[in-house]
Amino acid sequence: KLVPVILCGGSGTRLWPRSRASKPKPFLPLVGETTLFQATLERCPATDGFGAPVVVTGTAHLEHVEEQLGDRPGAEIIVEPCARNTAAAIALAALRLPEDAVMLVCPSDHYIGDAKAFADAACTAADLAQQGWLVSFGIEATAPETGFGYLKRGEAISDQAFRTAQFVEKPDLERAKSFLAEGIYAWNGGIFAFRVGDFLKELEAHRPQILAAVRKAVEGGSSDGHRFHPDAAAFAAVESESVDYAVMENTGRAAMVPADMAWSDIGNWQALHTARDRDELGNATRGPVELVDCRNVLVDSDGPRVSVIGLEDVYVVVDGDDIMITTAAGAQKVGKLSGAVNQ
Ligand code: GDD
Ligand code: MG
Repeated sequence: KLVPVILCGGSGTRLWPRSRASKPKPFLPLVGETTLFQATLERCPATDGFGAPVVVTGTAHLEHVEEQLGDRPGAEIIVEPCARNTAAAIALAALRLPEDAVMLVCPSDHYIGDAKAFADAACTAADLAQQGWLVSFGIEATAPETGFGYLKRGEAISDQAFRTAQFVEKPDLERAKSFLAEGIYAWNGGIFAFRVGDFLKELEAHRPQILAAVRKAVEGGSSDGHRFHPDAAAFAAVESESVDYAVMENTGRAAMVPADMAWSDIGNWQALHTARDRDELGNATRGPVELVDCRNVLVDSDGPRVSVIGLEDVYVVVDGDDIMITTAAGAQKVGKLSGAVNQ
């Protein structure tokens, strides 16, 4: 069985004021009616052969997770006493599972438009993981983004899978541009398939100190049958590093499955505008909104009526007492606003 391991970590400031520390991005219905976390769960249904999910989250998000997890018999919530990044979060899940289980590690803050393409890629990735590969999902790179990992396509393993010749996490702009020009690099989608035993072996090989510290936290932890609490002092001693740097850049067993599934990490309001349904003029509205002569405008209000005339490529977001207005180009800077920083 393929076990969904769902990561609910950091708060994120780039979709302020809708996303806040008190109600962060995974738990909001940003595209359509379901929240990103719920959509992540729904992509891994028991009816498609997925096992009970393991959700790894911090105490701050626990309430949201419990509320939105729904009825998944056997689901476990691993409650991190503090955040120690994804190498530790995935290791926690791995140490709670049998060695021969295959994990599908899923971030809970992404949008995937084509669920069928996701399911097909997950199936291919699970088969590869079963054979000992550490599998990433490759997303077609369309811009020299520096916030992503890059996968260099190596020799073919099958029709749908390749060796990852090189994994480069968050290159600088110069390198990202050269990767794009070469045409054989994909973005790392942040979704991974690992056989538990293989992941632990690779972590042991490349970051033995992280594995040892997480193991200690798990051995000293306690479960109430539904939630698992690692030992807080032991977990606090774990080094904070992402799985991309700790394992994926170093393993010799990396493979990739190209996945064309309308993926977006919804990194800012511009990306959210693209993921939402838009009218023929490119406008996307939510709440009591009136637009006249507008193009490519996003307006999202949770209360006050918003009326806009004659604007193009502008986003207006109203959340409680906060109003944020930006051009599409300015959307990159939202996370730096003092409202977002000091929320
Ligand atoms: N439980 C838990 N604990 N989850 C965490 C933690 C943690 O300490 N830290 C991060 N996460 C979760 C985040 O909530 C997110 O869902 C996922 O793990 C990835 O973490 P990010 O912090 O969003 O990573 P990133 O966006 O910088 O980079 C990763 O994702 C990119 C694609 O979106 C990398 O895997 C890149 O290579 C990749 O391109
Ligand atoms: Mg991310």
